[in-house]
Amino acid sequence: MSAHRFAWGIACLTLVSSFVVAAPTSVMAQGFKANYDEAAVPQYTLPPLLETVEGNTVDAAHWPARREVLLNLCRDQIYGAWDLPDFQLNAEIVEQGEFLDGKAKRIQWKVTISNEHGSQAIDLLVYLPANASSDQPVPLFLGLNFAGNHCVANDPAIRLPTTWMRADKDTVIENRATDKGRGIQDRRWPVDEIVAGGFGLATAYYGDIAPDDPKHYMEGLPRLNPKLKKNLGPFALDDAYTETEQPTTGGAIAVWSWGLSRLLDVLQKDSRIAANKVIVVGHSRLGKTALWAGATDTRFAITISNNSGCGGAAISRRAFGETVQRINSAFPHWFCDQYRKYNKAEDQCPVDQHSLLALIAPRPLYVTSASEDLWADPHGEFLASQEAGVVYQLLNQTALPDSKFYGFENLGDGKVMYANGWGDGQTESVPKFARVGYHIRKGPHDILSWDWQRFMQFARQQWE
Ligand code: GCU
Repeated sequence: MSAHRFAWGIACLTLVSSFVVAAPTSVMAQGFKANYDEAAVPQYTLPPLLETVEGNTVDAAHWPARREVLLNLCRDQIYGAWDLPDFQLNAEIVEQGEFLDGKAKRIQWKVTISNEHGSQAIDLLVYLPANASSDQPVPLFLGLNFAGNHCVANDPAIRLPTTWMRADKDTVIENRATDKGRGIQDRRWPVDEIVAGGFGLATAYYGDIAPDDPKHYMEGLPRLNPKLKKNLGPFALDDAYTETEQPTTGGAIAVWSWGLSRLLDVLQKDSRIAANKVIVVGHSRLGKTALWAGATDTRFAITISNNSGCGGAAISRRAFGETVQRINSAFPHWFCDQYRKYNKAEDQCPVDQHSLLALIAPRPLYVTSASEDLWADPHGEFLASQEAGVVYQLLNQTALPDSKFYGFENLGDGKVMYANGWGDGQTESVPKFARVGYHIRKGPHDILSWDWQRFMQFARQQWE
């Protein structure tokens, strides 16, 4: 991490002041037809995790060096490198109060990252159980949100974001948030259940770090890095990759993940939060982001990826649902330019997404899928989680069992499949999780209270 100064301003109580993110049908990505037929998945061989290019098998003592190799490959071939050479991080509490009839404390931080080129403010919203104290610090989930902090809960005190936001006719006017968005994504953030479970929750709007749009992306943190020449497309599906000026410069996922690490810097200074029990969590594109944050910042105690799919937990070589080619053309600002080399050539990539998951070992990892979320390839998410197990085992940790994917047909009403301790695969009782956890929830692409309940159970078991 680059050297930076941490200026700490507490209790400055000056009040400064959805959409649903659907798959954008970028013109450039039109004409793409996803494969949803398991029989049409190509034959593939995954790059080995524990075998070096020289053909040596890696033992536990050599895992740190091997991990470095895989981390560099994931960075240079997929997400890209992103850092600010010199910056100052300033955090001040701008509002605090109570929520849920006093069951939760609300703390709102203004986190500012600045350097000689400008500054970027990120609103960080934190809820802690009322009894959280430095004597009883609480574990905490940290995850970015899609639609602004005010969408997370029906809490009128939450500050509205002031940064660019994707248009939404009901809640966003002229690309700026309005009060109408308050609480519209609360199904995704069961604050009451989280604090009742003894956990804190911290969240920030991902657009406060960098707007999720190729045209507006440079208005966020990236503008503080004047050397940045990110090629933001547009790319057509069949565009051939040609070497760009900065092929390994990080895209938005790398920037959002870096932002999560800066938020962790702030949270770790609050003695009411257990600094060694911060769980990074994310849904969908923000699940991809959580995984990269968990891989690059080992201070995250547990990493949870929900429905993260292509470029997240799903094996790219399967090309099931969303593919590398489709994601690179629809979201040209997410990955490094070099990732486009693997458009329709996934098997040429020296790593696959199981390599990313293995970077989290030996720390706990929980990957989740939803049965109707075929675009994110649940089977591919399961397989990658299973494959990463060799590294967990090498490091004396438990992995997912070598069982087959039960498939969606086994999911009965209200039933769920876990990949370990599941008996017939249809039990509602919580299994004894391994160090790697997996579940598939019946239903659509989303993150719901049911998922959060399992996240808490998973975390508790890890810390028993
Ligand atoms: C699109 C995109 C996915 C992404 C998802 C989301 O569907 O293709 O890669 O995960 O949006 O973030 O909701």
